[in-house]
Amino acid sequence: MQLIHSVTALRDRLSAESRVAFVPTMGNLHEGHLDLVRHARTRGECVVVSIFVNPLQFGPNEDFDKYPRTLVADCAKLEGLADVVFAPDVEGMYPEKQTVYVEVPEIASQLCGEFRPGHFRGMATVVLKLLNLVQPQVAIFGKKDYQQLAIIRQMVNQFNLPIDIVGAETVRAADGLALSSRNQYLSDTERTEATTLSRILRDVQNRLLAGVRDYVELEAQAKKALSDRGWQVEYVTVRNPSDLGAPTVTDRQWVVLAAARLGKTRLIDNLEVCL
Ligand code: PAF
Repeated sequence: MQLIHSVTALRDRLSAESRVAFVPTMGNLHEGHLDLVRHARTRGECVVVSIFVNPLQFGPNEDFDKYPRTLVADCAKLEGLADVVFAPDVEGMYPEKQTVYVEVPEIASQLCGEFRPGHFRGMATVVLKLLNLVQPQVAIFGKKDYQQLAIIRQMVNQFNLPIDIVGAETVRAADGLALSSRNQYLSDTERTEATTLSRILRDVQNRLLAGVRDYVELEAQAKKALSDRGWQVEYVTVRNPSDLGAPTVTDRQWVVLAAARLGKTRLIDNLEVCL
């Protein structure tokens, strides 16, 4: 496995590769990331993982500064799984002030976008740069960031990038909590409570499967259940999985998405539901 920091060295290393599978990350790798990397191995001959905490996708009051940077430990976890780790610094990724951004679709201003203005614009911009640098045939993203994946799919499709975008299932702890680097911000008590988020999503899933179609009521009850337990809820919503638009009563597939804060930690999760 080769650790590469510069764009030039990355291009040199990958110039002769014809089947690259790419996993973009912000590092602080956990089993969820490693699952994406293992998946990449089944899809490409050369597996590239990027590790870059992208300042463009963090708001001024967000956790860019405290986001855990653990490159040495990350590389140890990737040994034997990846062929190339690309870990540029901010100057390497943005040698000049970034003045050109991806203009993201309307859906990017809803859900997480409503609470994190500019996040998806910064995310899409760095993903486009990374895809241009790595030029993979396949790129793997976790479904845990469902809205992110939907925006990336639209971008890749509408910009005619010849890249197969694969969404991999969310990896969960034994108690149901979706794995996330931000889980480590939780205190012990919060970590126990955090499992409520996936439980509430499963309740909504069960009620959809049982035939309930009053989405507004379902969402209101789920939000109340969380806020009664001290969560600050941003949204719990039932959407159409294909475009994240509002569902109709005749739909047979949904995605239930939620974002809420527990103490100072913001958690997101989602569940796909299919009749
Ligand atoms: O999901 C993430 O870790 C990031 O948003 C990504 C896709 C690596 C872009 O910075």
